[in-house]
Formats: sequence, C-alpha cells, structure tokens
Amino acid sequence: MAPLRVTVIGSGNWGSAISIIIGNNTKRSNRFHSLVNIWVFEEIVNGRKLSDIINQDHENVKYLPGHQLPHNVVAVPGLADAVSGADILVFVVPHQFIGTICDQLAGHVKFGAFGISLIKGVNQGPSGLKLISDIIREKLGIPLGVLMGANIASEAAEEKFCETTIGCKNPQHGEIFKELMQTPNFRIRVVEDCNTVEICGALKNIVAVGAGFCDGLDFGDNTKAAVIRLGLMEMVAFARLFCTGTVSTDTFLESCGVADLITTCYGGRNRRVAEAFARSGKSIEELERDLLNGQKLQGPQTSAEVYKILQLKDVMEKFPLFVAVYRICYEGQPVQEFISCLQNHPEHY
Ligand SMILES: NC(=O)c1ccc[n+]([C@@H]2O[C@H](COP(=O)([O-])OP(=O)(O)OC[C@H]3O[C@@H](n4cnc5c(N)ncnc54)[C@H](O)[C@@H]3O)[C@@H](O)[C@H]2O)c1
Repeated sequence: MAPLRVTVIGSGNWGSAISIIIGNNTKRSNRFHSLVNIWVFEEIVNGRKLSDIINQDHENVKYLPGHQLPHNVVAVPGLADAVSGADILVFVVPHQFIGTICDQLAGHVKFGAFGISLIKGVNQGPSGLKLISDIIREKLGIPLGVLMGANIASEAAEEKFCETTIGCKNPQHGEIFKELMQTPNFRIRVVEDCNTVEICGALKNIVAVGAGFCDGLDFGDNTKAAVIRLGLMEMVAFARLFCTGTVSTDTFLESCGVADLITTCYGGRNRRVAEAFARSGKSIEELERDLLNGQKLQGPQTSAEVYKILQLKDVMEKFPLFVAVYRICYEGQPVQEFISCLQNHPEHY
C-alpha cells in the first residue's frame, strides 16, 4: 500500500505542537509519507510571511516560539494546495473558523480520505447541540475521529509526559491515528465513545473560566476543587442530555475527561484570562487581544454557544455554573456573584 499522506489544517499553538509530533513520527514510519503539509492562515510577522518563516527557519515564531519544526513539515498557505493528495486530514483550528474552512475545502479532498479533529468547541444546531466533528463530516463527507486530552501545547512540544484520548468508531482508523501521533511521552488510549470525548474537550474550557474567576477572586483551593467537581457534574449531565448514542461514564475518567479538566483549571489560557478578567474589570475581548498575541480563547465563546443550547431546551437551572460563566462574560453580571452559582447548585439539594 502507498504510504499515507498527512495534512495538518491549522498552525496555531496546538497545530504547531502536534505537527512536531506527527512530522517526527512520519519520518520514522513506512506507513506514512514522510512529508507533512501544514496549512497556515497567512499573516505577516516581523515583515515576513509566516509560511516563509516556517519553511525557512522551521519555527512558528508567532504561535509556538522556541520550538523547531521538523524539516519534513512544510507550510502551505493555500487550503486546496495543502490538502491535495492527502489521505489523512488533522483539523486543529479555533472552532469559530471551521465552517468557512470546510466550505473552502469542499471538492478538494481526496476520495477515501479520513480525518481527526483536535478542535475543542461546540456549535448550536437547529435541534440543540452540533458537534464540530459533525460539521466537518457533513460538509466534507469524510469519516472522522477526535483527539482530546490534558495536552497544553507548549508542554507537549517540550516532550513533557502526557496522555490523550482518541475517540473513533472505526478501529482501523483509530489504530492508524495512534501510530501517527503516539510517542514515548505522548501516550494515547483509543475509545469508541467519540461524542463524549469531544464534548469533554469543549465543555472543560467553560469550567476553566470558572476556575479563573475563582483565582481572580482569591477564593482558594477548596473552592476551586468545588468548581472542578461541579463543572464535571455539569459536563456529565450535558453529555447525557444532548449527545446522541451511548454516553459512557468511563470516558470521563480518560485523559479527555477529568485529566483535561484539571490541567485546564490550573494552566492554560482560559483560566489565565478569566483570572485577569476578575482582577482587572477589562472585557474578555480586550484581554484576549492584550494577553494572547493572536491566540484564541475558547471558554467564553463555548459558554455562549452552550447557553443558547440550554435556552432552547429550557434547562438552564440544571447548569448554574455554565450559565454564570456566560452571564459574567457577556451580560454584565458582576464576577463577585460567581460564588452564588456554587452555593445554590442543584447538586446540594
Ligand atoms: N493550545 C493548546 O494548548 C491546545 C491544546 C489542546 C487543544 N487545543 C485546541 O486546538 C484548536 C486550535 O487551537 P490552537 O491553540 O492551535 O490555535 P491558537 O489559538 O494558538 O491560534 C489561533 C489560530 O487561528 C488562526 N486564525 C486566525 N484568524 C483566522 C481565520 N480568520 N481563519 C482561519 N484561521 C485563523 C491563526 O492563524 C492561528 O493559527 C482549538 O480548538 C483549541 O481549543 C489547543
């Protein structure tokens, strides 16, 4: 069989880090073509095109500075060119851009290609929840797995040990994804319950915003543990209410569940910006611009999408933490009132 060609769609912080892992693995494997395309949303950085910087200096100086990309990872600024001939597509862009990207890709994807989404986020559909993976499947007509876990990009790029979870209904594809991305310090477990894996990755970012409020208000570690636990209970309840197919409680014990929740409530940009929000009184948009140098926040936006889904089903009272995060970020509810969503949580009645 011809070696499988891989394209990574997205070159932000995580897109760049996973390209290092993938590029190093394809170099050593007969199963994959060693050359890996990485699609770059072109921009000018220090007077040069980012794609030129990546191809000449082998570093994404804007989104993952200080880390060398393998020379077989090639930056391509055109979407259609980037996916031309690719058998495996790895989607890793902020979720707000995926619809437009898929529209541009339609008609350019190789017959028989399949993909995996590393994107953490949700959308609202006509009858409630719309998973990002469903948008990709519907728009491109390809089978898709997901990868989510306790994987802060900079730490994974430094090869610090971590675990991750692949959700994939097709066992053969699951095995290929594992071979493509597993390393001694990036350990992968494959499960079938892909919808739950994906929803964990999206919802934990809302909880991280709550954890950041908690830090910004100097509530302490006990309170933060309560935010994490109550957030987890809301994640489970949300998955049971809105995910189609079986929702296995065991999935929440994988890296995509409790481990990602913990790492994101202690590290990561959502927690950091939410802490700054509570301390400074600046808006989320202002802080995203000032603190993240082009990186995108996922938590506040996901809370807005989840809020609409909860409203549609009239179940807001069952999700006080998710609702409070949305109202504080976008409706001017004072952040000092965050504690009341914990005090009056249905878990305690
Ligand atoms: N960074 C992490 O530690 C991490 C870890 C796990 C998962 N994720 C998830 O990976 C996904 C991608 O995040 P990231 O951290 O790689 O990105 P990022 O937030 O670091 O970077 C933003 C990216 O968006 C691109 N962009 C900006 N405007 C655009 C537009 N109009 N159209 C298309 N692209 C545009 C930028 O070029 C850049 O590549 C997200 O869903 C995130 O939740 C991130």
